[in-house]
Amino acid sequence: MICLGIEGTAHTVGIGIVRDKPFEILSNVSSMYRPAAGGIHPRDAANHHASVFTDILKKSLDEANIGFGNIDLIGFSIGPGLGPCLRTAATAARALALYLEKPIMGVNHCIAHLEIGRAVTGADDPVLLYVSGGNTQVIAFMNGKYRVFGETLDIGIGNCLDKFGREVGMPFPAGPRIEEMAKRGKKYVPLPYSVKGMDVSFSGILTAAMHAMERERIEDVCFSMQETCFSMLTEVTERAMAHTEKAEVLLGGGVASNRRLQEMVRKMAEERGAKFYCPPGKVLVDNGAMIAWTAILMKKSGMEMGIEDTSIKQNFRTDEVDVKWR
Ligand code: ATP
Ligand code: FE2
Repeated sequence: MICLGIEGTAHTVGIGIVRDKPFEILSNVSSMYRPAAGGIHPRDAANHHASVFTDILKKSLDEANIGFGNIDLIGFSIGPGLGPCLRTAATAARALALYLEKPIMGVNHCIAHLEIGRAVTGADDPVLLYVSGGNTQVIAFMNGKYRVFGETLDIGIGNCLDKFGREVGMPFPAGPRIEEMAKRGKKYVPLPYSVKGMDVSFSGILTAAMHAMERERIEDVCFSMQETCFSMLTEVTERAMAHTEKAEVLLGGGVASNRRLQEMVRKMAEERGAKFYCPPGKVLVDNGAMIAWTAILMKKSGMEMGIEDTSIKQNFRTDEVDVKWR
């Protein structure tokens, strides 16, 4: 089976083409909306997705070296995400499915991060630490569903880093620049370590980091933000592993590109005798291949979706999905 998957929950619109047997990502093309100034405006991001869509569709087919006739299934990100972006991706998916007379499958974006991670790394039953701009969740499979064992109570970790970056004049996305700055940090500036039960929160850290900028070096503030936020994430991930008795940990989301976060989680896993997995960058970030692959898993487990079932779900919860393919 060959599936064309469309991702469009936030800044990134992506089209990936995946074959199941043998598993191969035939192409994975994307385009990211970067606001000229300020934060992301959902409607502008959606306009961006619509304007580049046909171009990346063509690139994706060319890269996969196939034509429309080879495609068996259309997948798309049905939620969670920003309404206008989701609607744009869903509309494109419906049009393609109707035009090609092929089945359509709406995919939960968070679960797609986990499934593509399993497929490319060989992890079998991991705890996923999913850290992106808008999302921060610790997810694992239990009793027929992917369940959220911990999450942010306010903003996503990437959002926290990007907002800090915007305030100090870094271009978007700020995560990679903060990582570079942090390497030159020498001093730990205390910031409010915020773990509440299994959940985390970042807005207090953002405020405290902004205040710290009045008296501390930016390198030290970046270093301290990373040390604080990543320790919190590592702590709740470890607790989820202990609770679920799982011996694998997998990273997902754009913030997982960060070497310091990878190092902390790897070390925690080693100390528990667990395995650490981190997919390559192109499948860590939002991408179409993860949607295509998850759509294949859903379809092959017997799930069906008609055009009438494809309304977007802005607040789609990870644990709403009946996971029939595991
Ligand atoms: P989602 O819709 O899942 O919330 P997203 O649109 O935020 O996703 P991703 O591509 O998964 O997209 O992640 C982007 C985020 O990753 C940005 O906040 C960016 O600053 C952050 N990021 C990227 N590289 C790094 C890095 N090296 N260190 C820290 N953060 C990073
Ligand atoms: Fe994502």
